[in-house]
Amino acid sequence: MNMVNVKEYMTADILMGPNSARILEELLAKHPLQLKRESRVLDLGCGKGLTSLILAKETGAKVYANDLWIPAEDNAKRFSEWGVGEQILPVHGDASELSLDEGQFSVLVSVDSYHYFATKEGYFQEKILPLLGDEAVVLIGIPGMKDEYDGRSEELLSEWLGNEAYMFRSPKEWKEIIGRHERIEKTETWEMSCFDLAWKEWLATDNEYAMGDRQFFETIIKPYTCFVGICIRIK
Ligand SMILES: C[S@@+](CC[C@H](N)C(=O)[O-])C[C@H]1O[C@@H](n2cnc3c(N)ncnc32)[C@H](O)[C@@H]1O
Repeated sequence: MNMVNVKEYMTADILMGPNSARILEELLAKHPLQLKRESRVLDLGCGKGLTSLILAKETGAKVYANDLWIPAEDNAKRFSEWGVGEQILPVHGDASELSLDEGQFSVLVSVDSYHYFATKEGYFQEKILPLLGDEAVVLIGIPGMKDEYDGRSEELLSEWLGNEAYMFRSPKEWKEIIGRHERIEKTETWEMSCFDLAWKEWLATDNEYAMGDRQFFETIIKPYTCFVGICIRIK
């Protein structure tokens, strides 16, 4: 993946957390995608659309850019300014209530957002699986706990995250949460290598949330957390 093409968009205005482009870069390096122009990719919880832009450029496919907090009109304006307005369709709404045609997506990507809405067992089977076509690939990169601190997120992270600490789960736990289904061929979860770089680039911005995170990085974020990579292959 050529990061030079997207470096200009990795700014305090566009980033909403640790650099999502780095997280996506690792997901795509480990699990390269070969898509056709008519293939469809769903970017779930895309925020301000940096990952959608990269997916459009890297795969050439049609990207559906879903988000809840960012209005679709704002993302549509950005995509048009970025020259990908024809290729990316903004879809506003809760990832649990999307009215999208079943079986249409070859790929689903979710970077730094899946943990907000998918910690309930059965979510994947009920809400995600119906949207995926045969042989689809799901790539997820989210913040979580290192395996050795499994199950201790509320005890260890509450000072930083308040009542959102429960969302942080380990690679081992995410494998269980995704669960099983006859259409799932394989689920792999791992601790990602991009942690230091993605955090460094985020903390270097003057985004107000980055400034908030800075005071917890050495004492909480770095010792206890990681990014969890998840790849699910559908039969
Ligand atoms: C930390 S931001 C990350 C955004 C983007 N993926 C990125 O990495 O820059 C988390 C995103 O998750 C989205 N989100 C949270 N709950 C959601 C839900 N129920 N459905 C869809 N998106 C959701 C928010 O709208 C927000 O943009």
